[in-house]
Amino acid sequence: MRTDDVPSTDSMQVVGGSASRSLAKELAGQLGAGLAHVEVARFPDDECYLRIEGDLAGEEVVIVQTTCPDRNIIELLLLQDAVADLGMASVTTVAPYFGYARQDKKFNEGEPVSARALARAISATTDRFLTVDVHAASVMSWFEGVDAHNVSGHAEIGGFLREQGAELVLSPDEGRRDNAEHVAEVVGCDSDFLVKERLNGETVMMTPKSLDVSGRKVAIVDDIISTGGTIVRAAEQLRNQGANEITAVCTHGVFAGGAIAKLRAVCDEVYSTDTIENPTTAMTVASQIARTIQER
Ligand code: R5P
Repeated sequence: MRTDDVPSTDSMQVVGGSASRSLAKELAGQLGAGLAHVEVARFPDDECYLRIEGDLAGEEVVIVQTTCPDRNIIELLLLQDAVADLGMASVTTVAPYFGYARQDKKFNEGEPVSARALARAISATTDRFLTVDVHAASVMSWFEGVDAHNVSGHAEIGGFLREQGAELVLSPDEGRRDNAEHVAEVVGCDSDFLVKERLNGETVMMTPKSLDVSGRKVAIVDDIISTGGTIVRAAEQLRNQGANEITAVCTHGVFAGGAIAKLRAVCDEVYSTDTIENPTTAMTVASQIARTIQER
């Protein structure tokens, strides 16, 4: 369906996949929308079965499902297919964390552009697409014929860190310094980024470009924490440089392979938003997503 075909309606239903149930509920509350019940089960061979209960005919439907790990992608595609048969007025697909966004180019002939493949599959049955703090903005152009929007989670992270009393916001590298600057603006504190310097085969120094962390309450902010390797290295160095307290914060807590335990061993606190629901989730991006849906 094309965006210019979307009829206007005042009635909205949120359909939450099993990866994003809590965010879907929060979003429905923010939008004043209904929350459809979705039954999700697995066949003995682990294929997904689902059924959306309720009458969505004539409704604006908002599907919420994070696309990580892979089984959640299949569930999203099945949710989209089920919704498409229910006579809705329009469909907005929200993938709070857009998995595969880091695979946005091919390095060798014969490889897929994985982010593009996923964008094309999602685009087939939606009018709008929303994600949060997408890793590479260029990915959004692959949602062809779809009103695609990248929502920022920085206001939530900044507001949260202000309450925590953060005194300095750091990006783990220069590439993400804008994120740290936006977050620090909300906190009302300084920001900087870490510079890596290889001293020898085993030792890499990471120091803030301009500021001194000594005695300060520091927050390291990244879009994604996956293995935790980046933040663990940064936190160890900052501790040696005299940081008083170290908080690791990300929008998307992927936390692969026991990353939370590794992070908690070197950081005082670890927090993430609810784009991926996990034990460190302390902030919701629901209000930013709701605002974007209502503005469009
Ligand atoms: C990289 O460009 C991202 O912004 C993150 O810094 C990265 O994905 C973190 O990965 P890991 O937690 O595995 O070090």
